[in-house]
Formats: sequence, C-alpha cells, structure tokens
Amino acid sequence: MEHPAHTPLLVLVGFMGAGKTTVGRLLAQHLHCPFHDLDVEIERVHGSIPKLFETYGESGFRAIEHHTTDQLLPRLPRPAVLSLGGGAFLQPANRELIRQHGGVTIFLDAPWEVVSARVRHTGEHRPLVRDPAALRRLFDLRRPLYMEADHTFSSAEHDPAKLLTSLVRLAEELGARDQRRATL
Ligand code: S3P
Repeated sequence: MEHPAHTPLLVLVGFMGAGKTTVGRLLAQHLHCPFHDLDVEIERVHGSIPKLFETYGESGFRAIEHHTTDQLLPRLPRPAVLSLGGGAFLQPANRELIRQHGGVTIFLDAPWEVVSARVRHTGEHRPLVRDPAALRRLFDLRRPLYMEADHTFSSAEHDPAKLLTSLVRLAEELGARDQRRATL
C-alpha cells in the first residue's frame, strides 16, 4: 500500500521502562490515530514473551520479533504510532524495514536511574531485567545505538505531559493532523 509522505508512521524506540507504551498510547490519542505495540502483536500471535525466551532463547525471540515487524509494518494505517520493544531497533534488519516503510524513529531517552526504578520489579514479564548487572551493561551498550534514531526526546519527566506536547508538535511538523479534523 502506498502512503503519501505527509502521513507519518511514528516509531517509538528506547530502553525498557523509557515510557514507549505509555507515551505512545497518549500520543496516538492526541493525534486520534491508531496505536500499535510490537510486543503486544508478538504475544497475540506467538504467546508470552517470557515463554518465548524460555523456549527459543533470546536469538529465537529476536527472529520472531523481526518476523512480526515484517508482518506488521505493511498493515499499519497512516498516521499511526508504533512502540517497539527495547531490543527491536537494535537489529539492522528491523531498522531497514522501518526505513522502507517510511517510519520516523523517535528515541525516548530516559536516564538509568529512571528506567532501573521503573523496571526493577518487572522481571516476571521482562526476562532481560532479571540480572541487574547485565541490565546496566545492556543500557550502556544500547544507548549510543538508540541515539541513531531520527529524533531524540528526554523521557526523564515523571509527568509525561511536557514530552507529549513536544511529540505532538513533531508529529504535526511531520504532517500528522488530528484525524478527527482531517475528516471534517
Ligand atoms: C526487550 C524489551 C521488552 C521485550 C523483551 C525484550 C529488550 O520490551 O521486547 O522483553 O530487549 O529490551 P519493552 O521495551 O517494551 O519492555
């Protein structure tokens, strides 16, 4: 399906606990456009993420994550907001898919203190959180790669309202209009 350049696909990337899902949902509400979460799509089709890690290991999970990205991107309407799981943007093949589909990537940059506090008790749902030292290494390793996103916004605020205002402004600059207004 061809999408005109002025109807963006906004792709939120960043570490676990950066607020991708929360902020993504709010952004989509503001733009009155659909919100999708790659992890939700993976779990809908393939079952729980901890179970996938347990059964196939991380590399098996990454293959499923890539396959799901490949299946989902062409089905998304425009505009739309898509949140990726924390590791998805790091796979070059996923970045290439996002590029091919005209996705604009937005890094939600939250400091270690913020993400570690947010994810500390989520090890049941997030297998990579279970080893705190490994998590910290992952954070340091990944941050420069997230910085390669098209846009970076600080996600340190406890109140997401300010971040949201900046993201709505960016979306409008990129051509996203409130979908209710667009149909008037
Ligand atoms: C992962 C992040 C998770 C999920 C999986 C792996 C990662 O998503 O995809 O547990 O590698 O950072 P969230 O970033 O939404 O927690």
